[in-house]
Amino acid sequence: MNSFELNKVVMALLLTVLIVMGINGLVGVVFDHEEMSSNAFPIEIAAAPAEGAAPKAVVEQGPTFGELLATASVEKGQKIFKKCKACHTTDNGGKNLVGPNLWNVVGRPKGSFDGYRYSDGMKSHGGDWTFEDLNTFLTKPGKFIAKTKMSFAGLKKPADRAAIIAYLRSLSDAPADLPAVAAPEAAE
Ligand code: HEC
Repeated sequence: MNSFELNKVVMALLLTVLIVMGINGLVGVVFDHEEMSSNAFPIEIAAAPAEGAAPKAVVEQGPTFGELLATASVEKGQKIFKKCKACHTTDNGGKNLVGPNLWNVVGRPKGSFDGYRYSDGMKSHGGDWTFEDLNTFLTKPGKFIAKTKMSFAGLKKPADRAAIIAYLRSLSDAPADLPAVAAPEAAE
C-alpha cells in the first residue's frame, strides 16, 4: 500500500466518522425536538381541565340542604306554604282537611296524626319525619312514599324546600334542633 492509497483509506474512515456523527447530530436534533414538545404538551393538558373544573364543581355542588336550612327564612316558608293550605292546617289542635294537621310534624312518626286516615304507603313507611326525609318527600311526594294520597307534584327548588321546612319546624312549642352544618358561610 502506498501513501496515496493509505490517504484514501484514512479519508474513507474520516468520511465514515463524519457520516456517523452527522446521523447522531440529526438524531439529537429530532430527539431534542420531541423531548421539548412532549414536555410542553402535558403541562398544557394538565392546566386546562384544572382551570375549567373548579367553577364547574362549585356550580354542581351548590350549598347542601343543611346549609340552606341553617339560613332559611321562616317568613318565606310561610308564604310558600300557601301551596299547601288547601289541604293542611298548621295550628295546634287544628282539624284535618284533605291532609293531616301539620302542627309538630317535624320529628313526629310518619303517618301518626290521631284521627287521620293515611294511605297504606304512608302508614307502612316507618321512621320519624326528619329534616332530610321531609326534604326528600317534598321534592316529589309520590317518589318517596309509594301511592301516597298527597297529590302534590313537589317543590323543585332546594331553597323553597328549605324555607318551607324551616316554617314546619317553627310549628312547635319546642322546635327540633337544626342539623349541624360544617361550613355555614358556604350557604351564601
Ligand atoms: C292536594 C292536597 C295536598 C297538598 C296541596 C299538600 N298536601 Fe301534604 N298531604 C296531603 C295528604 C292527603 C297527605 C297524607 C298522605 C298519605 O297518607 O299518603 C299529606 C301528608 C303530608 C305530610 C305527612 C304528614 C304526616 O302526618 O305524616 C307532610 C309533612 C305534608 N303533607 C306536607 C305538605 C306540604 C309542606 C305541602 C306544601 C308544599 C303539602 N303537604 C301539600 C295532601 C296535600
